[in-house]
Amino acid sequence: MGLYIGVMSGTSLDGLDIALIKQDSRSTLVASHYLPMPAGLRAELLALCSSGPDELARAAIAEQQWVEIAAQGILSILHQESLQPSEIRAIGSHGQTVRHEPSRGFSVQIGNPALLAERTGITVVSDFRRRDLAAGGQGAPLVPTFHQALFDDGRTHRAILNIGGFSNLTLIQPDQPVRGFDCGPGNVLMDAWIQCKQGLDFDREGQWALKGRIAPALLDSLLNTPFFKTNGPKSTGRELFNLNWLAQHLACLPEMPAEDVQATLLELTARSIIESLRAAQEKTDELLVCGGGAHNRALMNRLAELLPSDRVATTAAYGLPPDWIEAMAFAWLAHCCLEGIPANCPSVTGAKGLRILGAIYPA
Ligand SMILES: Nc1ncnc2c1ncn2[C@@H]1O[C@H](COP(=O)(O)OP(=O)(O)O)[C@@H](O)[C@H]1O
Ligand SMILES: [Mg+2]
Repeated sequence: MGLYIGVMSGTSLDGLDIALIKQDSRSTLVASHYLPMPAGLRAELLALCSSGPDELARAAIAEQQWVEIAAQGILSILHQESLQPSEIRAIGSHGQTVRHEPSRGFSVQIGNPALLAERTGITVVSDFRRRDLAAGGQGAPLVPTFHQALFDDGRTHRAILNIGGFSNLTLIQPDQPVRGFDCGPGNVLMDAWIQCKQGLDFDREGQWALKGRIAPALLDSLLNTPFFKTNGPKSTGRELFNLNWLAQHLACLPEMPAEDVQATLLELTARSIIESLRAAQEKTDELLVCGGGAHNRALMNRLAELLPSDRVATTAAYGLPPDWIEAMAFAWLAHCCLEGIPANCPSVTGAKGLRILGAIYPA
């Protein structure tokens, strides 16, 4: 029982999502706040996603800046809701992923939880992924258990699809353990390509992609990547899917208009999702989409075309706004940690067993 705040700062690096939830037998969204990532910090966090000089000190400095933004957002929610810090049981802070390499046993999120506790006067729970990795899991995705708590009605064959920088699926089938995995790139390549060619942060509604034509040779070449052909447990990140990876595939093909590349990247996102869904689950009554990609109308239309006999909708159809599910999940994970509830899902991450996730930084 109580109020919790979740802070999610995803791989897209678009900004920080902050959700205040009331947790009793269910999780209810009370308030939310979005803070765009300042351009300078975004560039530094992106740079920290690959090897560079003096990384440890640079990461330590970047995470302090990140905390100042997170704290500002949390304090504005408190102000807006006329709440005192003592009324919040904990903040669940995911931090910013700068490396995700489960095959080498690690995933690194930065976000100085001690400083966040100091700035807000609220207990912070953080470092959610490492215990699952320590138990042999991927450390990701962690949201399926929360998706199950929200959407398992014991009857419907559901798939919950989060399209952030990367996309991940949760498969909920009656009388079966929940399953889930990362499907591959969500928005990350479309964002990077439009940023590189047009200086824009993202392709609003997929409008630019709609101006191009899908390049079949490029699509085949991209879909040939082994990650798409393996079944879960699996998770991925910028280490694999990035502009260099795309450039290597483009280099083997005749030059093509930039909008055709964008159209092909959108198709890659849609096809990799639907093909992994089909391979993992025969019957799906309903695909519910959340994350920023739910606003990409061209992508949503393509998903619906590829799944003609299923219902494709956003989580808003169940009164849960798609932009806040992940931040709500980390608020809920903080609740699970404080209550001693194991929150990883071994059938998703491949961990040896259930584990209580997170480290506690008392107020
Ligand atoms: N109106 C829109 N049209 C197309 N794409 C959008 C729109 N709004 C958000 N997005 C996409 O969603 C991304 C942010 O999604 P988000 O769920 O926050 O991802 P992450 O968890 O990786 O931060 C943006 O970078 C952008 O690609
Ligand atoms: Mg985001």
